[in-house]
Amino acid sequence: MFLTILLFAAFCTTTLESIQTLSTNEINRMSCDIGLYGLAVMGQNFALNMASHGFTVAVCNRSPSKVDTTVQRAKDEGDLPLIGTKSPEEFISKLSKPRKVVILVQAGKPVDLTIEAISEFMEEGDVIIDGGNEWFPNQIRRHEELEKKGIMFIGMGISGGEEGARNGPSLMPGGPRKAYDLIEPIIMKCAAKAGDPEEPCTGYCGPIGAGNYVKMVHNGIEYGDMQLIGEVYDILKNIVGMGNDEMATLFEDWNSGDLESYLIEITAKILARKDDLTDDGYVVDKILDKTGMKGTGRWTVQEAAEQSVAAPLIAASLDSRYISGRKEERVAASKVLQGPSNEMPQVDKDQILSDLQQALYCAKVTSYAQGMGIIQAASDKNEWDVDLSLCAKMWRGGCIIRASLLSKITAAFEKNKDLQNLLVDETFAEEINARQMAWRRVVSLGVASGIATPALSAALSYFDQYRRDRLPANLIQAQRDFFGGHTYNRVDRDGTFHCLWDETHKDIGDLTGRTAGEL
Ligand code: 6PG
Repeated sequence: MFLTILLFAAFCTTTLESIQTLSTNEINRMSCDIGLYGLAVMGQNFALNMASHGFTVAVCNRSPSKVDTTVQRAKDEGDLPLIGTKSPEEFISKLSKPRKVVILVQAGKPVDLTIEAISEFMEEGDVIIDGGNEWFPNQIRRHEELEKKGIMFIGMGISGGEEGARNGPSLMPGGPRKAYDLIEPIIMKCAAKAGDPEEPCTGYCGPIGAGNYVKMVHNGIEYGDMQLIGEVYDILKNIVGMGNDEMATLFEDWNSGDLESYLIEITAKILARKDDLTDDGYVVDKILDKTGMKGTGRWTVQEAAEQSVAAPLIAASLDSRYISGRKEERVAASKVLQGPSNEMPQVDKDQILSDLQQALYCAKVTSYAQGMGIIQAASDKNEWDVDLSLCAKMWRGGCIIRASLLSKITAAFEKNKDLQNLLVDETFAEEINARQMAWRRVVSLGVASGIATPALSAALSYFDQYRRDRLPANLIQAQRDFFGGHTYNRVDRDGTFHCLWDETHKDIGDLTGRTAGEL
C-alpha cells in the first residue's frame, strides 16, 4: 500500500509543470501530447513554442539533420520536453492517443506525401493538422480522403512568420469540431494573446476549408496594407521630399495613434536602417523595386471574383506587384512615357502629413470591409458560419496584419453579427465621413503629380460607389439590352423589359423566363 502511494505521488509530480525537469531518457519513454512533422524554420519554432508551454512534442522531418538541430535547440532553450524521431513510424509511435500531428511542410504535393507517410501508422480518431498556406479546396479533398479512414483533418492558417511561430502566432483552424476540441487546449496556450483582458488569437473558424480561407483573406488584406503603406511612402518621398530618417520618425509617431500596427512599426524600422554592405545610405534605397510573392493574395482576388464580391483595393495591390515585376519594361517605358509637366502642385507639409494619416486609416478600414465581405460570401455559400468578429479578434495579435484597429472591427461585428459592410458600422461610418476630404486630397495630389496611388484610389472609388444609392449601371443595362437583348428591370414597376432601341433592333419576342442576368 505504502509503495502504491509512493508510486502515485511520483506519477503526480510528472505533470506538465514539472516536465521540463525530466531527463532526456525519461522524455523519450513518454507518450507525447502532440507531434510536429516538417522542421523548416516555421516548424522548428512552432514545435519549440508548444514545448515551452509544457506540452511534450515529438518531431520528425524528411531529412533527419533538422531533427537533430531541433532537439539541440530544445536543449539550449531550457531543456524543453521535445524528442526527435527519425521515421514516420517511430514518430507516430511516440504519440499518446488520440494522436495529434501538426504538419508544417511546403503546401501542395509535399503535404499529400507527408499525410500518406504518417497516416499509414495512425488510426481512427487521430487528428492531422496542416499548418501551411494551402489552397482551401485541397484541404477539403484531404479531409474527404482521411475521413474514409476515420482520421480527422484540420486546415489551420498560421500567421506571424518565424518569430510568431516561436512566441505566439495567430492560429486559424477549420475542420471537424470534434478534432478542434482535441487541439483547443494546446492552441489556446500557444497562440499570441491580445486584448484587455488578454485572449488567445485563435478560435474555431468553421468546417474544413474555413480556416485556410480566413488565412487566405488575411494575406489579401496583408497585400493591401503593404501596398497602402508603399503608396504613402512614395508620396512622402517623391512629393513631400522627405528623407528616410524623417519618414521613419513619422511612421513611428503614427504607430502610437490609430494606425498602430505591426506593418507600420516595421516600416519605421526598415526606413531607418542604414546599409551594411556599403558605407553610404539606407538599405531600403538599395533594394530592387520588384515585389515577390507566393500567391495567397492572388487566391484572394480570384475568390473575390468567384464570390461576386468587389475587392478593388486588394486587386490593386496584386496588380501593383505584377507591374513592379516588369522592371525592365518599366525602365524602357520611363524613357518614352511622360508624367505631368514639371509643375508639381504646391503642398503644405503639415497638411499633407495629416491628410496621409487620415487617408491611410480610411483605406485600411475599406480594405477590411472588402476582406470581410469575401469571407462572409464564402461562408454563406459553403455554410461555414464563420464568425467575422472572431476573425478580427484572432488577427489582433501574432499575425502580420495585427493592428489596434482590429479591436474596433471586432466590436463592430460583435455588436451586429449581420453587419452588411464594415463601412456602415456607426463608428466607422462617422470616422470615414469625417476624414474623407483628407483622403480625396491625397488621391488628387497623387493624380496631379503623376504618383500612382492605386490602392488608395481604388478604396476611395469603392467608398464612393458603395455610398451612392444610384450608380450609372442603368446605362450599362441599357447598352446590354441594346446590343444583346439582355433585358432590364425598371425602377418604377416589376417585370422584365426590352426596348426596340432603333429601327434595326429586333423584337426578341416573349420575355417570359428571360432575366437581365445574374451577378
Ligand atoms: C503570415 C504571412 C506569411 C507569408 C506570406 C507572404 O501571415 O505570416 O502572410 O504567410 O509571409 O505568405 O506572402 P507573399 O510571398 O505572397 O507576399
